[in-house]
Amino acid sequence: MALTIGVDIGGTKVAAGVVDEDGRIVENLLRPTPAQSPEKVAETIAEVVRELSKGRSIEAVGLGAAGFVDETRSVVRFAPNLAWREEPLQKKVSDLVGLPVVVENDANAMAWAESRFGAGRGETHLVCVTVGTGIGGGIVLDGALYRGRWGMGAELGHIQAVPGGRLCGCGNLGCWEQYASGNALVHEAKEIATAEPGRAARLLEIAGGTPDRIEGQEVTQAAGEGDPAALAAFSSIAGWLAQGLADLTAVLDPGCFVLGGGVSRAAEFWFDEVRDTYARIVTGRGHRPPVEIRLAELGASAGLVGAADLARRL
Ligand code: BGC
Ligand code: NA
Ligand code: ZN
Repeated sequence: MALTIGVDIGGTKVAAGVVDEDGRIVENLLRPTPAQSPEKVAETIAEVVRELSKGRSIEAVGLGAAGFVDETRSVVRFAPNLAWREEPLQKKVSDLVGLPVVVENDANAMAWAESRFGAGRGETHLVCVTVGTGIGGGIVLDGALYRGRWGMGAELGHIQAVPGGRLCGCGNLGCWEQYASGNALVHEAKEIATAEPGRAARLLEIAGGTPDRIEGQEVTQAAGEGDPAALAAFSSIAGWLAQGLADLTAVLDPGCFVLGGGVSRAAEFWFDEVRDTYARIVTGRGHRPPVEIRLAELGASAGLVGAADLARRL
């Protein structure tokens, strides 16, 4: 069976795997993302590809990258949360590994994987939203991945949610990903813990006493123990997510939404609220078939599975 390799390059981890035609991972491995050096990132990708290729014949390599990828699927033009600027990733990696390489936006890759093998199987119109460090978007329309004219479509995280709001890594103010991502969750929790320490007693205890030590892990643990501030932070994310999904429904009329990314591992604290709020606010409610909101099924490997599958369609 023909095999391809998918590599998902995120802000903290490089996840890679050998994937077969049915989207099954034959072997995989995980490495830390080398900090802020595009050269080292390309070398790390080449290393994992070499390691996974040993003793196998690999057809092609797909790279899922957290940024704006050009229409030739070669260059990462811009990455709001990483060091890539006009980065010729496709050329660098294919020169190093001697295999055909294609670059995809990470969230596009995930959307593709979920639509072929995961929560969106059989759905021709779906929108995937990854809630992690930032917000990623992937849109499948009529069964095909929608990339836009220049490859940069579906950058859902950078729709403006709040005029004049929080500064985003993209340089604009008030982007959705500053209100509904993992970073936003931490931001929100810190704000509440600073303003109302009494409400965040357990959260602060877990974080060692000061709001600036709060990270996603602490918010999740505190929420599990019923800390009101941590629960309020999740609830805030849920509200912003629901509003964004409602807006996207007005534009795209999808058959379903698939929500994934790191924050979806803590779905018990926000997912039901997203569904409820969405149903309450979506335009045309009562006069449109209900749009299902589902959790991603492929977890942390969705990006690499999607990138690998797209590489086979070169
Ligand atoms: C980037 C996207 C990426 C998303 C998730 C956003 O900040 O603009 O390209 O898909 O984060 O990683
Ligand atoms: Na995208
Ligand atoms: Zn932005």
